[in-house]
Amino acid sequence: MSQDQTMVAPAEMTLDLAAKPITPAIGAEIFDINLAADDIAESIPAIRAALLKYGVIFFRDQDMSAEQHITFARHFGELEVHPATPKNQDNPEILRIAYGAKKKGQENFWHSDVTWREKPSLGSILRAIEVPEVGGDTLFANMHLAYENLSPEMKRLCEGLTAVHDVARVFAKRLNKRPEELHDQYPPMTHPVIRTHPETGQSVIYVNTAFTSHIEGMSKEESRWLLDHLYATAANPEIQCRFRWEKGSVAFWDNRVCQHNATSDYFPARRVMERVTIAGCRPYFGRPR
Ligand SMILES: [Fe+2]
Repeated sequence: MSQDQTMVAPAEMTLDLAAKPITPAIGAEIFDINLAADDIAESIPAIRAALLKYGVIFFRDQDMSAEQHITFARHFGELEVHPATPKNQDNPEILRIAYGAKKKGQENFWHSDVTWREKPSLGSILRAIEVPEVGGDTLFANMHLAYENLSPEMKRLCEGLTAVHDVARVFAKRLNKRPEELHDQYPPMTHPVIRTHPETGQSVIYVNTAFTSHIEGMSKEESRWLLDHLYATAANPEIQCRFRWEKGSVAFWDNRVCQHNATSDYFPARRVMERVTIAGCRPYFGRPR
């Protein structure tokens, strides 16, 4: 381990991980670990601690199958099946995200995954199957630091507000379905604008450009203005990190604290990723509801 790597080792942990932060705000690369190893269970508490400490953690050169990807993710909770997963797929927990000459990358906006669910995701684990020679980086923003950058008056205003999250904003067009069809299974959900992270207790801005439709109790104009202001907080480079993928890279991010943005700058090259998504809890502000 080099001098600028740190150890993640809470008292209850039995195993130390070598971690090198990418920026002071968010993200660390974790070394010397094989996520597909038979004894990976021993490392789970340390990996969970690193996730909470850094918001997103990265692993290189992971030679793992789809089944091993799922097995690893199951250590952190129940897995979700995404509505964009084709029916009758062998491993329904795997969401394949593939772009190339026929289709340009689409996730190039700031968001947290599946905030339209009643209990949005705890975290996502993304594995690079095929990457362009250059481009296709993913950016991550620490939305707790974004909250901390708000003025005390703005914090007070936002802490009392709730917003609606709607799956149809992105997936009606992509899945070629009417919003009502999607709403039968996934009705629009109300979540607090500022959520409390259930494990760290941090306050986090929890609205995003992809899925949030409006803030409740405000006029359309007021809601638009405030959402635009809150969305813009993710664009601050001082709360971000940027990850350059290689084949076999794995990123594990905490959807409860960070947002991400997948650059779509590699067209017509191919970029193929597989994601497994871990279910979370119902967001709350203050005390659990
Ligand atoms: Fe995403």
